[in-house]
Amino acid sequence: MSELTALQDRALAELNACSDEAALRAWNTKYFGKQGEVVLAVKKVGSVPPAERRAYGQHANQVKETLTKAHEERDALLKEQALERSLTTEGLDVTLPGRPVPRGRLHVATKVLREIYAIFSDLGFQIYRSREVEDDLTNFELLNMPPHHPARDLWDTFHTTTPGVLLRTHTSPGQIHVMRELAPRPIRVILPGMCYRYEQITVRSEIQFHQVEGLAIGDHVTMADLKGTIITFARRLFGAERQVRIRSSYFPFTEPSIEVDMDCILCAGKGCALCKGSGWLEIMGAGMVHPVVLRNGGYDPAKCSGFAFGMGPQRIAQLKYAIDDIRLYWGNDLRFLSQF
Ligand code: DAH
Repeated sequence: MSELTALQDRALAELNACSDEAALRAWNTKYFGKQGEVVLAVKKVGSVPPAERRAYGQHANQVKETLTKAHEERDALLKEQALERSLTTEGLDVTLPGRPVPRGRLHVATKVLREIYAIFSDLGFQIYRSREVEDDLTNFELLNMPPHHPARDLWDTFHTTTPGVLLRTHTSPGQIHVMRELAPRPIRVILPGMCYRYEQITVRSEIQFHQVEGLAIGDHVTMADLKGTIITFARRLFGAERQVRIRSSYFPFTEPSIEVDMDCILCAGKGCALCKGSGWLEIMGAGMVHPVVLRNGGYDPAKCSGFAFGMGPQRIAQLKYAIDDIRLYWGNDLRFLSQF
C-alpha cells in the first residue's frame, strides 16, 4: 500500500515538471504504457494475499484515477499555455488589412469582341469560326483576286514553308467556307478571328489583329439591309445619337464596295484631334457580295444576293476607350490591361 502512495507522489511530481507535449507523452508511456508502472501496479492485485486484496485493489484504482485526471488537467493546461504563447509572441495583428487575392480578367480585345457578338446575335447573326491558316486559293483567288491581281498588294502576309499555305490576311476567306457549307440556304453570320499581315509594327499597325466579318445572303438582300445593319450596330456600340455615312470604295470581293464612317464620338462631327479634323471616323469596309464570290461559294447570283462587311475590333475599341497605340493590345503590360 505504501508503495502505491509513493508511486502516486512520484508520478504527480514528475507530471508537474512536464512543460511540453513531448514530456507529457513520455510521462504517459512511463506510467500508462503497456509496461507502465500504474498498469503493472493494478495488475499486481492478483499476487496480493487475499485478505489485503480488496483494499489494495481499491487503492490501486484510486491511484490510477487520480493520475489519469491529473494528466488530463496538465494536458489542458499545457495546451492553453502554448496557445497563449503563440498569440502573444507570434504577434498576429488582426487589425491589418487582408492581402488582396489577384484576380484575372478578360482582355479588352475579348470584351469588345463579346460586345460585338451580343449586338449581332440580337440582329439574328450566328457566329461562325473559321481557320487562321489558309490557302492562297481561299484567301485570295476565290475572293476574286487571281494571282496577278494588283489588289493582293494590300494584303502582304506570312507564308508557311508549304507552298500556297499562309496565315490569312483577313476574315473574308471565311465567307467561302460558310457559303460552301450552307449553300443554297440563306446565311446570316459573323466571322470573328485573328488575322495576320506582314507589316512594319507601328502605333497604327500590327502584324496580328482581330477582324469581324459579316455575311448575309438571301433572296432579296439589298444595300438598304446593309445600311440598316451597320447603323444599328454603330448606335448600339457607340450611342443612339450616332450618324453613319457611306463612301464608295473598292474591294475585289464586293460590288459595289463602300467604306463606312461614323460621326466622331468626341466632337460629334465638328472636327477634333481624334477624327483629324474631318468629323468622321472610319469603322469598316463593306459592300454587296461580288457575283464571282457568290458563285465560288455555290450560290447563283441571278437568284440571290448578299452583303458583307469587315471591321477591326481593335480599331473600334481604340475609339471607344481612347487607346492611342495599337501595340498596347498584345504588349502584355499589366498597367494597360488592368484598366479594363
Ligand atoms: N477584307 C477586308 C480587309 O481586310 C475588309 C472587308 C471589306 C471585308 C469589305 C468585307 C467587305 O467583307 O465587304 O480590308
